[in-house]
Amino acid sequence: MMLSLSGGSPELGRLDIPLLVVALAAGAGVDGELASLDTSLGGALMRTLERRDFRGTRDETLHLAGGTTGPARVLLIGTGSTGERAGRLRRAGALAARQGGRMGVGELAMFAGPLDIMETEALAVGLAAGAWDYLDTKSALPADERRAPLSRARILGADDAGLASGVAIAEGHGLARTLGMMPGNLCTPEFLATTARQIGERHGLTVTVLGRAEMEQLGMGSFLCVAQGSPEDPKLITLEYFGGASGAQPIALVGKGLCFDSGGISIKPAQGMEWMKFDMCGAAGVLGAMEAIARLRLPVNVVGLIGSTTNMPSGTAVKPGDVVRSMSGKFIEIINTDAEGRLVLADLLTYAKQFKPAAVIDAATLTGACVIALGHTATGVLGNEAALVQEVLRAGSRAGEPGWELPMWDDYKELIKSDVADIKNSGGRPAGTITAALFLKEFADDFPWVHLDVAGTAYTEADLGTVPRGPTGVPVGTFVEFVRGRAG
Ligand code: BES
Ligand code: MN
Ligand code: ZN
Repeated sequence: MMLSLSGGSPELGRLDIPLLVVALAAGAGVDGELASLDTSLGGALMRTLERRDFRGTRDETLHLAGGTTGPARVLLIGTGSTGERAGRLRRAGALAARQGGRMGVGELAMFAGPLDIMETEALAVGLAAGAWDYLDTKSALPADERRAPLSRARILGADDAGLASGVAIAEGHGLARTLGMMPGNLCTPEFLATTARQIGERHGLTVTVLGRAEMEQLGMGSFLCVAQGSPEDPKLITLEYFGGASGAQPIALVGKGLCFDSGGISIKPAQGMEWMKFDMCGAAGVLGAMEAIARLRLPVNVVGLIGSTTNMPSGTAVKPGDVVRSMSGKFIEIINTDAEGRLVLADLLTYAKQFKPAAVIDAATLTGACVIALGHTATGVLGNEAALVQEVLRAGSRAGEPGWELPMWDDYKELIKSDVADIKNSGGRPAGTITAALFLKEFADDFPWVHLDVAGTAYTEADLGTVPRGPTGVPVGTFVEFVRGRAG
């Protein structure tokens, strides 16, 4: 269940609310609306700040009991002193909602001073992110141990338009995270197709789904070799959103949708293999972004393309040394069956040509090497056009999803030359993120294209404070910001 968000008047001292969260920057004082709150707290806020018990540093929290009137509890959250205000509020909102969830208050109000449209949106996105949870596969606790989940949040002094766009983006984020968290036996290629059809029905998108037989007709030997070890039908899912002028070239968003990646015959070690249910986070990002873009009614044409299957070892699975023919006609030597994401994306990029896209952005949990290079902080960004790379980097930073560019120099291409085919699917460990992107570039020869390696950023193995272990919602924000940037 998604957090229900609304606005409200910032008369803090008179609020009838179980929890009021106040976001305070470093060194902030008690003025304006905070004075009436301080009165209802008998001066506790002023004393707390004067004693410097709370200083407003980033992520700092302090809990105060409320007075006999006004908010029952008050939580101060620090937003620090550096960075854009919208980003700081997104973070504070997430911490607030998580804390509200732990306390079991059910509802909170958040005050952060005056809010413009982007600040309201960021706060809404943060609050919804902090309240997100995946409970579908857990039994409910006994009634006496249960705490109310956070189901409502009021943003005091919210800008109405910012609230509406925040809710739209939050819905997209929540969808992507739910799909990411779902176990692989539930979130199957067929389930992703059903989810796409539901988005289509909700918002009037055209959705088409191709299976193994149709992809064979198209000559997608690269995608299909990944799926050939799995009894499940692979799916190529297309969502077409027509928000722009008819005939205007669309933006294509492409996602890797490996519902489970065992590595195939080049099987992965057992330790941590369960994390490979997250290998569909690129696809989840596309679905989440399409949901948000449609809700925002952005005046742009957008095509979402998802390649979904599982990578399994079996008697029919593709083997190292095999050569397959991609839809583009290029022959690919399979060196490592665990380098499967690029094989799926190669045929998706060729398939994308028919839409004559103005720009193509793909997102994929593509390489472990990206996690080594950039950790869980930055998405790897590579592309075939410098201006588009910069545009995507800016979109990511606005969304609070920073990226970092890696070079695509031709020198690295030596590593993926094959003796028997046009190209091989693995260049080994050195520069693994770059060689993967150079492989994709061979199939993105017809349009401006950027690749997002979200292997380190789409999910987290450690609690980040704002987000628990699991999916982060990346790259939904980057996709939405990019498309919105193109909207006008
Ligand atoms: N899905 C993995 C990449 C991955 C690894 C994502 C760790 C998230 C965390 C991808 O399919 C893969 O296995 N890549 C190989 C490529 C190698 C065989 C060239 C890798 O990174 O080891
Ligand atoms: Mn793999
Ligand atoms: Zn993979």
